[in-house]
Parts: sequence; C-alpha cells; structure tokens
Amino acid sequence: MTKKALEQVMEFRRMMSGFWVSRLILTANNFNIFNHLTVPRSALAAAKILKTDGRATEIVLDALTAIGLLRKAAGKYRTSPMAANFLVDDAPYYQGDMVRHADTLWKNWSALDESLKKGKPTRKAENYRVFINAMNNNASLRVRDVVNALDLKGVRSALDLGGGPGTYSREMAGRGVDVTLFDLPDAIAIARKITKNAGARNIRFMAGDFLKNPIGTGYDLVFISQVLHSLSEREILSLLRKSRASLAPGGKIVIQEFSLDNERTSPVQGALFAVNMLVNTDAGRSYTAREIKGWLAKTGFSGVKEKRMNETVLITAGKKKT
Ligand SMILES: C[S@@+](CC[C@H](N)C(=O)[O-])C[C@H]1O[C@@H](n2cnc3c(N)ncnc32)[C@H](O)[C@@H]1O
Repeated sequence: MTKKALEQVMEFRRMMSGFWVSRLILTANNFNIFNHLTVPRSALAAAKILKTDGRATEIVLDALTAIGLLRKAAGKYRTSPMAANFLVDDAPYYQGDMVRHADTLWKNWSALDESLKKGKPTRKAENYRVFINAMNNNASLRVRDVVNALDLKGVRSALDLGGGPGTYSREMAGRGVDVTLFDLPDAIAIARKITKNAGARNIRFMAGDFLKNPIGTGYDLVFISQVLHSLSEREILSLLRKSRASLAPGGKIVIQEFSLDNERTSPVQGALFAVNMLVNTDAGRSYTAREIKGWLAKTGFSGVKEKRMNETVLITAGKKKT
C-alpha cells in the first residue's frame, strides 16, 4: 500500500467512526460532567457525584481528555478551558442545549436506513423545550452580525416569523424596533420566559401556526430565519405570499438559511443538514440561494439580493410601493 493510500484509508476511518466522539460528548453532557469537573476530581470522586460505575467513569474521562474537553493532571480531571467556554452553565456562548438537542437528533439519525427507503422520518424523537433552547444557543453565536446586516434604517416594526426563542427579536427590539414574534404556542411560552428574564421590551408575542393562522399586517420587515428548511416548496410559496401581504408598501423580507451551492454538495454542513431534515421532518431539506430567490420572484417580490454570512446566507427582497 502506498503512503498516500494508507493516509486516505486512515482519514476515511476517522470520518467513519466520527460517531464515537459524538456519542461521548452527548453522554458527558447528559451527565453534566463539564459542570461537575470545574474543580479537579479523581475518577472515583467523579463517579460518586455522577452516580456512575467507577471503571466506566475512568474510561470515559480519559477519552474526554484525549479529545480535549477535559485536562488530566496527577490523576485528577478538570474541564478544559475550551469546554469551559461553551459547555458550562452561564458560559457566554453556552451550547449545552444544542448538545442535548443533538442527542434527540441522534435517535432519528439512527433510523436513516429506513428513511432512505421510505423518504420520511420513521422515528420521531422530539423534545420541543430542548429544541427551542438549542435554537437560542445557536442564534446567540451570530445574532449581532446578522442584525447588523439586516439594515434596520427606516424599519419601525418587524415580524420575526418562526422566531423560536426570540434571540433575533430581542436584538432588534434592543435597537428600537417594535417586534412581533410569531411561533407555535409552545415556543412562544419559552420565548416569553427567556425574554422576561432578559428584561427585554418592545416585543409582542403571537402564538399560532403560520401556515393556517393570520400573522398580522403593516410590518416594515418580515424576518424568516432558519424556517424554510423544514417546509415543502408548496408550503414555502404559501408562506412567502402571506408574508408579502403582511408587509406595508415599501417593506422588505429577509430570509436566513444555511448556505448550499447550486449542486447541493457544498459546503459539507449544508449537505449534511439536508439529511438532518430528511430524518426529522416530513418534507424539509436544505435549499439553495438560487431556489429561494426564484420563489421570492415568483411570489411578487422585487430587487432580490443575497449576502453571504459566516455559515448562512441572507436573502433580501422588497415589496413595491403602491
Ligand atoms: C429552526 S427554528 C428557528 C428559530 C429562529 N428563527 C432562529 O433562527 O433561531 C424554526 C422555528 O419555526 C417554528 N415553526 C415551524 N413551523 C411553524 C408553524 N407552522 N407555525 C409557526 N411556527 C413554526 C418552530 O417552532 C421554530 O421555532
């Protein structure tokens, strides 16, 4: 075997066993290991607190050390500085809910063989509270950059459609915009709580199903972030028409989605996210910016523009003044 071929096989093997690392992180988060090890502890001391098996705990803590999420010194383990940045409660960019959400997704991904045959999810593990909190973890990483890019000049009122935990709503409201956050009743209950704890104002909450219920009118901006990927093309067209009708003359729509090129094969994250939608939704997938722009033109928007962000793309279009 040539050196190059061997390197390729080893790289492939690392990729193939990627689930080992995933599972290890999901389990560590489920047992709150990163919080418990903010002070150094031996495996045995950790096992007592975690109520786990001593031998198993040592094996798992060693592996977590190997992947850089713990440090080990003099037989004691401690949360690494990297893990302390986002896996410990109250960390500024906390991602623990995202990890918990990934644990739910894991169950549905395990049925990919069946989904490939049937074209639909066959397992429907769901934890809505964890999902909405995870969306807050996720959006907190990019909310400032995205809202900067929205160009809120002249925007007095905005609709955050499918706004989930309200991360974007709070940022826009903080910049003086009257925001209406529309989502399903369960999401609204969580968003209300987070918003109250954050002491944010200027946010009106509207609970309903955006495919069936009225969404209000007279908005200068309709913002639809990370929502289209869970819908079918027919549902998207209907939502875009409804959004257009809800805008004041001269208002604009901004859509945020993960980037995906026209071949749907790059970036890797966009292509993999489509599989995530395959195993978790009836009709969702990742969509390309070209598809979204085409749907906006078809539903009567004009001046369609695209702006690339770090992991996502923002597509803006206007409703003509009448
Ligand atoms: C992936 S989350 C995105 C949340 C937020 N916009 C963000 O970017 O962080 C999708 C949101 O759409 C909401 N949603 C999905 N279908 C809906 C429907 N039929 N009516 C209202 N909201 C819906 C979900 O409850 C969820 O909050």
